[in-house]
Amino acid sequence: MSEQAQGEVSGRRPRSLSGIKSTGVPHLGNYLGMMRPAIELQESYDAYYFIADYHALTTTQDAAQMRASTYEVAAYFLAFGLDPTRTAFFRQTDVPQVAELTWILSCVTSMGLLERAHAYKAAKDRGEGGSVSHGLFAYPVLMAADILLYDSDVVPVGKDQVQHLEMTRDMAQRFNHVFGEGTLRLPQAMVREEVMTITGLDGRKMSKSYDNTIEALLPSKQLKKRLMQIVTDSKGLEEPKDPETCNIFALYRYFSTPEEQAQLAEKYRAGNFGYGHAKLELFEKVDAHMAPFRARYEALKDDHDTLEDILRDGAKKAAVVADEVIERVRSRCGYPARPWAGRG
Ligand code: TRP
Repeated sequence: MSEQAQGEVSGRRPRSLSGIKSTGVPHLGNYLGMMRPAIELQESYDAYYFIADYHALTTTQDAAQMRASTYEVAAYFLAFGLDPTRTAFFRQTDVPQVAELTWILSCVTSMGLLERAHAYKAAKDRGEGGSVSHGLFAYPVLMAADILLYDSDVVPVGKDQVQHLEMTRDMAQRFNHVFGEGTLRLPQAMVREEVMTITGLDGRKMSKSYDNTIEALLPSKQLKKRLMQIVTDSKGLEEPKDPETCNIFALYRYFSTPEEQAQLAEKYRAGNFGYGHAKLELFEKVDAHMAPFRARYEALKDDHDTLEDILRDGAKKAAVVADEVIERVRSRCGYPARPWAGRG
């Protein structure tokens, strides 16, 4: 971990929070960068994980699609091992206090800060600055609200989200400066050193926008086909090869032990070992790793009643914390307690 927060925080277990947008099927980058680390943290942290369906609305503007992808992502997360009895697993829109906090944070957030966000800058560089929706421009504010609404201590995310975490801290500091120190807790990003950037088929960062992703739970046959598309150099079968610069080897690392990695590296260097062979070894590993998750996913994905029960139950747990924090914030801003809030 590059940054760690451990131990008791004011008498409670430290809190881990993360979200995943419900746009598209989770790929190996999502799994390795965020979902797997988040699931590991549920052992020792008070965990709050959610499906970012408000965020998804920046791109998914079709009701049927919204409903379907929410269930899909929920089934994935649970299949990978998220335990809803230990973790509050919920849908972002089921705790709409986050939209209220978004507005409040908006009023202490400068345009200049948001203009520096990578996603907005990229759109602007493409000449699309003026047509970006306000929602996309304000995406980092909603994300800050997600994090700050739960007094989060650590936020397990992929490297691509680090800037958003820095912005979150900026917004919290600004709010605290204006309305009272200690109101909002400053969170830490938790990025695994070893999964800093997961490379896709073409060796660039695995990302839907590059169309180089490997869906996490592809059936065996399709998985093999997809892995065969990994781009390599054009060295012949007999030539020695360098594992350190190979996209196949880069992925193999996440699914194998150090001994297995040493063995494969040895084969690369010895020659008479082609990239096709390496791809098969990678396939065996990923396929075996994913097999049990695939089965759980299949059992869950169409069971919308169960998924709905889990998400609603999670939202109830999340709302307890959210209400506490939003009341604290409202009171600092000079708003009265909501009639049902029972502010102490
Ligand atoms: N922006 C994140 C992504 O695209 C998803 C997200 C939304 C999130 N809210 C969050 C992640 C809060 C961590 C914490 O992956």
